[in-house]
Amino acid sequence: MSKAVRYYSRSGNTKALAAAIATGAGTTAISVDESTAAIVEPVDTLFIGGGLYAYGIDKKLKIFISTLDSSKVKKAAVFSTSWLSKHALDLLKNELKARGITVIEETCYAKNMPGTNELKAAEEFGKRN
Ligand SMILES: Cc1cc2nc3c(=O)[nH]c(=O)nc-3n(C[C@H](O)[C@H](O)[C@H](O)COP(=O)(O)O)c2cc1C
Repeated sequence: MSKAVRYYSRSGNTKALAAAIATGAGTTAISVDESTAAIVEPVDTLFIGGGLYAYGIDKKLKIFISTLDSSKVKKAAVFSTSWLSKHALDLLKNELKARGITVIEETCYAKNMPGTNELKAAEEFGKRN
């Protein structure tokens, strides 16, 4: 089963969660900023996440999602870090669904920088999805 992890992170919190998910998924987390971020080969699961900034997800993450080809993504799973609200999870789901991509209900979340237990849970999330 092929899996990919993509994220956008300003201060490293979501990057840490993405790295743990990637460990569980047996892949490498790639920032949407990187030149290698595009999903070129079909994937069974695309894990995609970001923080919440002034009630929204970052424009770079939105733009990345807008480039996704639904025929190359069997399903997506979202993750996020934020301070108070888990709204980013719904925003991500909505952006992906608008692209015609199936999104699983299960999500992965940590408040700001993930702790040891959250990183362990993220790894399991990456492994089972
Ligand atoms: C400019 C800015 C705006 C933010 N706005 C929100 C917000 O509206 N709601 C919230 O819960 N957290 C908010 N946060 C907290 C971040 O979502 C949180 O710290 C997150 O873990 C950052 O992830 P990152 O380190 O991957 O960028 C904000 C942080 C910054 C820097």
